[in-house]
Amino acid sequence: MQVIILNSASQVAVHAALRVKSLIDEKPDSVLGLATGSTPIALYKQLVNLYRKGELSFAQVKSFNLDEYFDIAPDNPQSYRYFMTKNLFKHIDIDHNNTYLPTCFIGQNPRVEAAAFEKNIQLAGGVDLQILGLGANGHIGFNEPTSSLGSRTRVKSLTPQTIKDNSRLFEQGEYQPDMAMTMGIATILDSRNLLLMATGLNKAKAVKQMITGPLSAMCPASALQMHRDAVVLLDREAASELDNTEYFSWVNEQNTRLNNEFGFYS
Ligand code: GLP
Repeated sequence: MQVIILNSASQVAVHAALRVKSLIDEKPDSVLGLATGSTPIALYKQLVNLYRKGELSFAQVKSFNLDEYFDIAPDNPQSYRYFMTKNLFKHIDIDHNNTYLPTCFIGQNPRVEAAAFEKNIQLAGGVDLQILGLGANGHIGFNEPTSSLGSRTRVKSLTPQTIKDNSRLFEQGEYQPDMAMTMGIATILDSRNLLLMATGLNKAKAVKQMITGPLSAMCPASALQMHRDAVVLLDREAASELDNTEYFSWVNEQNTRLNNEFGFYS
């Protein structure tokens, strides 16, 4: 796991965008894994800017989102489909038919829908780069603590903490789903590259558990320790509980030299 500590959340977004751009420059028909939540919004703004400046095209890109609320209509402003359209898809040249979210509605068999989503990832050739945020309880996607580290796409019940954390995004009295369909941890680990972004003090504890804690289903993000090409981008606040920040900075200097010479992806 490569840990990169930057001074601010906006630097995290700029750095993440550079990595996405570098991938698409190298492979215009890249398969991107996308995430929702507040953290990636700044990254999506950067990508939209690059597209508007004519420096980046998504015309051949396919995307697979990590998760979607259970039984939520795509035009519901709380759906992750709506979020992605509003923050990214409608501003760039991606083909809407090439954007996938793991949806499941009442009356559908969740196992069949989940298997179809996994199949579509395989048919696309697998995910090249999966963007990830981090839940304050260590979740990735909607893989809550105690999720199997070998899990595949499925419907999950959300924990009270996640429901509370995300309630800020819902109006008082507005229906807030308590279940979601999410890529599994093994599905996420199949991606060729992982890029997790975490910013702000409320992520510091989960960041420490993810990077230096034991590999444990109690911190689903700790599964990144098992991945060959996982990069973690942090701002100073999110990194504030780590003891070995000087070591990470030093390693990062060496990696920057390598990346400048050979690129981010091998
Ligand atoms: C949600 C999403 C996660 C995301 C997390 C953190 O629960 N399912 O994919 O990482 O929120 O969100 P935020 O970036 O808003 O802190």
